[in-house]
Amino acid sequence: MRIDIVSLFPDMFTGPFGCSIIKRAIDRGVLDINLVNPRQFAYDKHQMVDDYPFGGGDGMVLKPEPIFRAVEHIEKNTNISNKRVILMCPSGKPFSQEKTRELATYDQLIFICGHYEGFDARISNHLVDEAISIGDYVLTGGELAAMVIVDATSRMIPGVLGSEHSAPTDSFYNGLLEHPQYTRPREFNGLIVPEILLSGNHAKIETWRQKESLKNTFINRPDLIDHIELNDKQNKLLKEIKEELGGK
Ligand code: ADE
Repeated sequence: MRIDIVSLFPDMFTGPFGCSIIKRAIDRGVLDINLVNPRQFAYDKHQMVDDYPFGGGDGMVLKPEPIFRAVEHIEKNTNISNKRVILMCPSGKPFSQEKTRELATYDQLIFICGHYEGFDARISNHLVDEAISIGDYVLTGGELAAMVIVDATSRMIPGVLGSEHSAPTDSFYNGLLEHPQYTRPREFNGLIVPEILLSGNHAKIETWRQKESLKNTFINRPDLIDHIELNDKQNKLLKEIKEELGGK
């Protein structure tokens, strides 16, 4: 996948994209990430990328011309048709695991990161396919949000994760939170690994994992349970969980 990021602060991406899984994907050519600074498309003497808002108000607004030109430059040079232009914005649609699966189907993602008080609305209305928010809080800019989306989406691209088995067991992958995991030692500071995981009984271990996954979700994110259709086994496990937690 080709990823282009339009940002006034391209240096911010060096750390997160320079190590671990994303770096490996770049080195192997699975991901091709390019950074474009819109300031190079501001043609006035001072290379201004922002200006005062019409109608008054605090802060500065990103001007349309450098952003439009940056995206046009990317599109002209890459010429990829199966693409999505995405604006990072706290008032965009909420990001989710489901969205990562959709974004992973494109051949190119172009991210526009804002800074300052906001964007000229012609950018959101006429340049981008969609605006995405990573949560109900305001960051100092869209860069961290773009990193989050690139990271989470990359994991869904075949060949990015070392093992293709990792993604299907993720929290949210099947609409539920993940079950707990344990590794050696069996006992640490008097804390012991659940006996069932050492039993070698794969059917029982699978049921335990399903139940723990449901329990985590029921306790931490009950809203998720309302959005999925549980099968008979899961309904039975959830009933048990509610009974067990009933007295607490
Ligand atoms: N830019 C500033 N805050 C943001 C958020 N929460 N999500 C996406 N982009 C942003």
